[in-house]
Amino acid sequence: MDQKEQEEAINKILGKIKALPTLSIVVAKVIQVVSNPLTSASDLSRIITVDQALTAKVLRLANSAFYGFPFRIKNITQAVSILGFDTIRNLALTVSVYKVFTGENDSDFSHQDFWKHCVGVAICASLLAKKIKYRSPEGAFTAGLLHDIGKNFFEQFMHKEYRDVMKLAKERNISVYEAENEIMHIDHAVVGKMMAEKWNLPHELKAGIAAHHHPEQETEENVMAHIINVADIICKKKSIGFSGDYVIMPISKEGRELFSLDEAGEAELMNSLDKELKEAEAFVNMPQ
Ligand SMILES: [Fe+2]
Ligand SMILES: [Fe+2]
Repeated sequence: MDQKEQEEAINKILGKIKALPTLSIVVAKVIQVVSNPLTSASDLSRIITVDQALTAKVLRLANSAFYGFPFRIKNITQAVSILGFDTIRNLALTVSVYKVFTGENDSDFSHQDFWKHCVGVAICASLLAKKIKYRSPEGAFTAGLLHDIGKNFFEQFMHKEYRDVMKLAKERNISVYEAENEIMHIDHAVVGKMMAEKWNLPHELKAGIAAHHHPEQETEENVMAHIINVADIICKKKSIGFSGDYVIMPISKEGRELFSLDEAGEAELMNSLDKELKEAEAFVNMPQ
């Protein structure tokens, strides 16, 4: 393929990303309102309750074993005051993003396994964030959930080519993103970054998505990029779900240092992850 053909192929993909549906207006508003320090709990709940399906799903998650409250959270106002703005923002995002993940199932790429990988990375990312007292463990959770969203785009809109990508990655024992670059001249991290732009996601989320394979490339939100990078590797090592990758990269020196992951540190992290995952059933098995 010459350069012109390559450019055409990339432009075709960019056009498809531009045509993607926007996140629901309600979710876009939730993100906006949460970042405004003057917003009250009742402002946020008023916006969520406009969408009945969203309300029901957020309440279901708020009442799941993951949060483990001994009493029933009955309404969104109560959920916001108990779980906090950021958590509710993430629940609303999770519910709306999950819709993008559903599609036809394919033997090469099970949606259920892939979703499980994403939930695993989300939980591991929030554990890493808490470990180093990162300012927003909830943001790390969301970025983890979304980090591979570019793969969904390929899987849904370029299904045939994506099967070739998966085949190539397996045959040559290379990373999926390398196979994507070879076949489509663009990889899922770049596509994910563009989706984040299209959806106006906060910068820290965009950085976590864009740089999860190369955290050293992200300067402004470098810590977030390392959080997602390490969480992704840990979940692959532990075979939590399946992301399509047979190749598992080693944890970088920077990552090990940042999160104090010597042998004992890594074992401890894996233990906490196991525990949290058991309680995350409600996230893994999302209501349709
Ligand atoms: Fe990835
Ligand atoms: Fe991943």
